[in-house]
Amino acid sequence: MNGNWILVSIFLLLITSFKVNANPGWSDCSFNAIDAPIMDATFFSPDPIGAGGTTLQVNVTQSLSKPTTTYTKLTIEFTDVNAFLIGYVRHPLDTNIDNIEDTFFAVVPQSLPDKYLIRVMVIEAGTGDIRNCILFHRP
Ligand SMILES: *[C@@H]1O[C@H](CO)[C@@H](O)[C@H](O)[C@H]1NC(C)=O
Repeated sequence: MNGNWILVSIFLLLITSFKVNANPGWSDCSFNAIDAPIMDATFFSPDPIGAGGTTLQVNVTQSLSKPTTTYTKLTIEFTDVNAFLIGYVRHPLDTNIDNIEDTFFAVVPQSLPDKYLIRVMVIEAGTGDIRNCILFHRP
């Protein structure tokens, strides 16, 4: 690894972080010890989310370094602050696409703790690989 490579990496990191668009209160998933690039753009509404049983709408824009497979899923998860899963949905994606630009829905769980996380990921369900991830800290 030479110096140029390091400079290029830093440059790419900077671009990547400037590219993130999301509702306020987001972070990467290192808080959950997940080492994955952050999502490009993730906007959900309503924010604050509605009562249990209501629908959350999540708009995702994500460019993919590898095309989707039949195992690539868009997941929306509700967890407590320790990443204990309370509710989730996994949406299939069209196969062989290299860009996601779509609206996804999730049902808000009936009982969420005072503090919770909403985690949106692109995963490879077969291998468990996490391709992209973003966390929203709520409230
Ligand atoms: C999500 O996309 C839909 C359709 O384009 C739009 O009507 C809605 O306002 C968007 N919601 C957010 C939170 O960006």
